[in-house]
Amino acid sequence: MSNNTAPGSPVYSDTVVRLFSLAAVLWGVVGMLVGVIIAAQLTWPELNLGISFLSYGRLRPLHTNAVIFAFGGCVLFATSYHVVQRTCQTKLFMPKLAMFTFIGWQLVILAAAVSLPLGFTQGKEYAELEWPIDLLIAVVWVSYAVVFFGTVGIRKVRHIYVANWFFGAFIIAVALLHIVNSAAIPVSLTKSYSAYAGVQDAMVQWWYGHNAVGFFLTAGFLGIMYYYIPKQAGRPVYSYRLSIVHFWALIFTYMWAGPHHLHYTALPDWVQSIGMIFSLVLLAPSWGGMINGIMTLSGAWHKLRDDPILKFLIVSLSFYGMSTFEGPMMSIKTVNALSHYTDWTVGHVHSGALGWVGLISMGALYHLIPRMYGKKQMYSVRAIELHFWIATIGIVLYIAAMWIAGVMQGLMWRAVNPDGTLVYTFVESVKATFPFYVIRLGGGLLYFAGMLIMAWNTVMTVRGSKPMPAQIPMVAPAHA
Ligand code: HEM
Ligand code: HEM
Repeated sequence: MSNNTAPGSPVYSDTVVRLFSLAAVLWGVVGMLVGVIIAAQLTWPELNLGISFLSYGRLRPLHTNAVIFAFGGCVLFATSYHVVQRTCQTKLFMPKLAMFTFIGWQLVILAAAVSLPLGFTQGKEYAELEWPIDLLIAVVWVSYAVVFFGTVGIRKVRHIYVANWFFGAFIIAVALLHIVNSAAIPVSLTKSYSAYAGVQDAMVQWWYGHNAVGFFLTAGFLGIMYYYIPKQAGRPVYSYRLSIVHFWALIFTYMWAGPHHLHYTALPDWVQSIGMIFSLVLLAPSWGGMINGIMTLSGAWHKLRDDPILKFLIVSLSFYGMSTFEGPMMSIKTVNALSHYTDWTVGHVHSGALGWVGLISMGALYHLIPRMYGKKQMYSVRAIELHFWIATIGIVLYIAAMWIAGVMQGLMWRAVNPDGTLVYTFVESVKATFPFYVIRLGGGLLYFAGMLIMAWNTVMTVRGSKPMPAQIPMVAPAHA
């Protein structure tokens, strides 16, 4: 990191990277703990304890907000600030504004952690937070854009490395999605009504919802892939040409796929069909990214055997490939007629969330944290290996249980007797799902245990260390 440096040369702005990395680990623990609690509540509803702010309906959005925006968000801030400086060979543009994004984002998280259990919600999935918090998010996000694009603007190298293209698309798209979907008319400090009505409201919400997946949970993490896999593997990206083609194809296609969340609703049929077709097309650019990431290891596969961080990074791409194959299949109307409303969707979500987003985040943090604290590697490499295995077993248990439960539920709900009456009552399908909820809880507990190991390893790594400012190389390396 500090190769090629001369005394007195300027240093990178890494304090904000350190803070976001530690916050990511903390919020990972919190968000996954709430995930385990709601998984237990679905299995044994008595665990709601009759206390309103511990009820499932309030903790579920707390889980989704904590894992996506607190954990995932902090990972994205930390890595994008780290990557943009290294690949542009300059420190951050307006480092104080970057610190403001850290403080502002933590305030958003705390406001969510208080307001969601109290029951304040706009009722829009992944956009539940009430309007004052939405305004704060918009201010933080615009500041983030200024810091990020400002840094790209003052870069010392001509080329804009591909990771920055993905981070940049993620930042612009999320600003657009958030501002349009959150338009609302406030009636008090804690209550507002959407600016849209009826089916338009649903369409705006799922245009937002699907692109939250496409840009927050995908494009940003592809930015992570394009920097940390080549770095950890010590090899150049497999194909720059492919990276450009799949970048443009991905961001163009994602924008149109939202209607697959509204099949068989009041949305006009042709709009549903457009959503389905674009979702099927989306398989190609998604797999382009996966292939480019995995093939970066081509010729160095042996590194996977001994390097647990590479295992996290590469296995995350296998889950990415799996969930981006499954998603297009589920968007086919006749398949969606079976999968919608069932736990199949929850299985799909977590193969993407635990497998892709979770594992790539953990791999990137394991690469980043020791470097940010002047250490060669994490305190315990064996603990990283252990984390990898229990997390992977946890994911497999979670998603396999949800697939079986989901297909079973879909088949039970549509089974009819020759006289047209239903074969099963709804409660029979709930009863049949019970063992699968127990298995999912087991898988979730394993994944959570892995996160606890990571938190311990992080504390041991950063404890007592005095982070040295990393100097910016005087001579730009040939490639980042
Ligand atoms: C220990 C790990 C985790 C456990 C035990 C867990 C458990 C759960 C449970 C029980 C639900 C509710 C499912 C339902 O309504 O039927 C849920 C929903 C959800 N979780 Fe997790 N989760 C975990 C980690 C994560 C992570 C890391 C992410 C994202 C990065 C995530 C994203 C989501 C999303 C997006 C939903 C909403 C799904 C939907 O509406 O279909 N989860 N989770
Ligand atoms: C080619 C890529 C993908 C396509 C075409 C796709 C398609 C779909 C479809 C058809 C559904 C079910 C909608 C419903 O029946 O309500 C769905 C749900 C979902 N997918 Fe994907 N998916 C893709 C990739 C991913 C990835 C990589 C992730 C996570 C990182 C993800 C996260 C989600 C979430 C969170 C939901 C649940 C939304 C909700 O109802 O709350 N998807 N996706």
